[in-house]
Amino acid sequence: MAETAELRVGDKTYELPIIEGSEGERAIDISKLRADSGLITLDPGYGNTGSCESAITFIDGEKGILRYRGYPIEELAEHSSFLEVAHLLMAGNLPSASELEKFRESIRYHTMLHEDFKSVFSSLPKDAHPMAACSAAVGALATFYPDSLDPRDPREVEVSVHRLIAKMPTIASYAFKHSIGQPFMYPDNRLDYVENFLHLMFATPCEDFTVDPVVAKAIDLLLILHADHEQNCSTSTVRLVGSSNANLFAAISAGINALWGPRHGGANQEVIEMLKTIEGEGVSGREFVERAKDRDDTSRLSGFGHRVYKNFDPRAKIIKKACFDVLEKLGVNSKLLEIAVELEEIALKDDYFVQRNLYPNVDFYSGVIYTAIGTPDKMFTAMFALGRLPGWIAHWLEMHAQDQRIGRPRQVYQGELSRSYVPASSR
Ligand code: SDX
Repeated sequence: MAETAELRVGDKTYELPIIEGSEGERAIDISKLRADSGLITLDPGYGNTGSCESAITFIDGEKGILRYRGYPIEELAEHSSFLEVAHLLMAGNLPSASELEKFRESIRYHTMLHEDFKSVFSSLPKDAHPMAACSAAVGALATFYPDSLDPRDPREVEVSVHRLIAKMPTIASYAFKHSIGQPFMYPDNRLDYVENFLHLMFATPCEDFTVDPVVAKAIDLLLILHADHEQNCSTSTVRLVGSSNANLFAAISAGINALWGPRHGGANQEVIEMLKTIEGEGVSGREFVERAKDRDDTSRLSGFGHRVYKNFDPRAKIIKKACFDVLEKLGVNSKLLEIAVELEEIALKDDYFVQRNLYPNVDFYSGVIYTAIGTPDKMFTAMFALGRLPGWIAHWLEMHAQDQRIGRPRQVYQGELSRSYVPASSR
């Protein structure tokens, strides 16, 4: 007999089914609540509300567990590659060697953008934020590729997915090159995915460019760590936009915009700006932490806190270790890393943060590595989007496979009661 929950309202009792996830998570199914009781639920920010059942990523916020399709993030970080993880998230299983090679080859030959795309970027101001440029460019893909927009046509979906994964590094690098007034580079199909991205970002037509394997490995790791995170704000945005049967490019463009916010992916840029402010102003870590605790002070400890992780964010632990490894291999001393470590040590012993379960999240250390390899602050969130792309796509695919109804939340109306129109002369 399936377990149920009882809801008593006045003299009526409603029985609601309880469903259980594969990891033992339980939920009250309220999909028939309004029809049966006339009642809806209210949960601003959806802290207690599941939007779907999903088999892609599992997070245990209390235990600091993160798994993609059942594989612990620590093992994928150590053994996998970003393209393999992208295939895993979207297809559901680790690819065989031949499947992965076939996927790599397809991506490799879709990396170029239509030549007219250059005018899309050159029409933007030089100081356009890369996230604005990326969301505009991804949205514009729908105009260049009208032949693959039907979310119900498996062949068109496959073509769109491969085009997006392949072209995102080109789009992100065009956004960067435009912002520094350098010519766009063409993809080099002799390089692998991350090497090609670094070539697109940092090579110029004037001289040969050799990818540093330490840098390539670090970026591949960061992309793996950012690849998915279940129903976060931007992924939920992709699912909601996708539920209207808008095309994949439109849904991903919306996801990029949601990720841009400083409460979400935009935090990685905020963190490095925070560290640079502390360094520049000569503020001590303790002074800054006190400011971050002060409600009357707008300072926040960016990169700290998380809706789900009420313990450590496993990604932050991996990135922190990678910071030390990469900087040592590159022979870079980073004052910013020293400041970040000091802030973490202070905050983790401070009651304000401890009582609120605020720990470093994925954004706290990532910018230190991006800075060490020469990525400008404004590109950090675009790097996050590059990593999150396969996760967004996986959720879009899953939502369509579940044939989910269009997302349309209800509300509790608190406005004026009915009233008659009054002509302007009488107001
Ligand atoms: C990402 O959802 C995901 O999975 C996201 C993500 C992913 O991979 O997709 O993990 C990526 O977005 C990571 C989060 C990046 N954002 C930041 O680092 C910005 C700083 N953090 C906060 O803005 C905040 O912690 C959130 C937005 C991340 C979470 O917000 P919640 O869950 O709504 O928590 P809250 O804002 O209600 O905070 C609870 C308390 C509040 O204090 P009180 O009202 O109890 O007095 O903690 C305080 C907040 O003021 N607080 C902070 C703080 N974060 C929360 N105080 C100081 N500094 C902070 N960073």
